[in-house]
Amino acid sequence: MANDAAAASAGADVLTVVAIDGPAGSGKSTIAKLLAERLELDYLDTGAMYRAVTFACLAGGVEPDDGEAVSAIARRIEIELAPDGTVVVDGIDATTQIRGPEVTRAVSAVASHPDVRSELVSRQREWAHRRGGGVLEGRDIGSVVFPDALVKIYLTASPEVRAARRAGEVSDLDYDTIAADIARRDALDSSRSADPLRRADGAVEIDTSFLTIDDVVTLLVERVEAGRSSS
Ligand code: DC
Repeated sequence: MANDAAAASAGADVLTVVAIDGPAGSGKSTIAKLLAERLELDYLDTGAMYRAVTFACLAGGVEPDDGEAVSAIARRIEIELAPDGTVVVDGIDATTQIRGPEVTRAVSAVASHPDVRSELVSRQREWAHRRGGGVLEGRDIGSVVFPDALVKIYLTASPEVRAARRAGEVSDLDYDTIAADIARRDALDSSRSADPLRRADGAVEIDTSFLTIDDVVTLLVERVEAGRSSS
């Protein structure tokens, strides 16, 4: 897959791609959105695409472990991601449901199927090629989707900080439930055989536990500007 990925993403060197990967709660979404604004690039939340497929599976009564059926759905569905964060799946506004507990519980299983991944990876590449680049956020952007990205960032934070951040975002789940869910998803996302979560070769690792969002965004803008002037 890695070789195929590198071949299929050929041309990434002429795109302005910023790849941001990391585990849940590492600050990826907030930071990637602000960075995209600062750089005047479009932003793609690839996790929302895996969540959209999961939503369609649950709505259609498809088991998240059934690789063949899940992959058929991934190939078939239409996913619209609007700049304001609205996610429309086959014409249905799924913005709230894709962040809900049912989708969150099932999404790692859906994302573990290689055929689901290759379908979404090719959509992600197309998205960037249509725009001349963008800020893409996920788990495998720097390792698989765009191994030749201009800048690759791997964000981390301690499990406690990550759980506390998520607890601040949702009102209906307590800290312990969220911490257990994050630990379970970390384990599944890092141990799957297809494109597991890992720091990509050449990625800059930043621990955001004790940094402000502004500090991280400023650091990343500097990295991208340095990357642009040396490319
Ligand atoms: O970033 P998030 O929590 O919304 O992502 C949801 C799930 O999707 C996450 O548990 C792993 C998976 N994912 C992935 O496997 N590859 C990506 N590029 C993005 C997300």
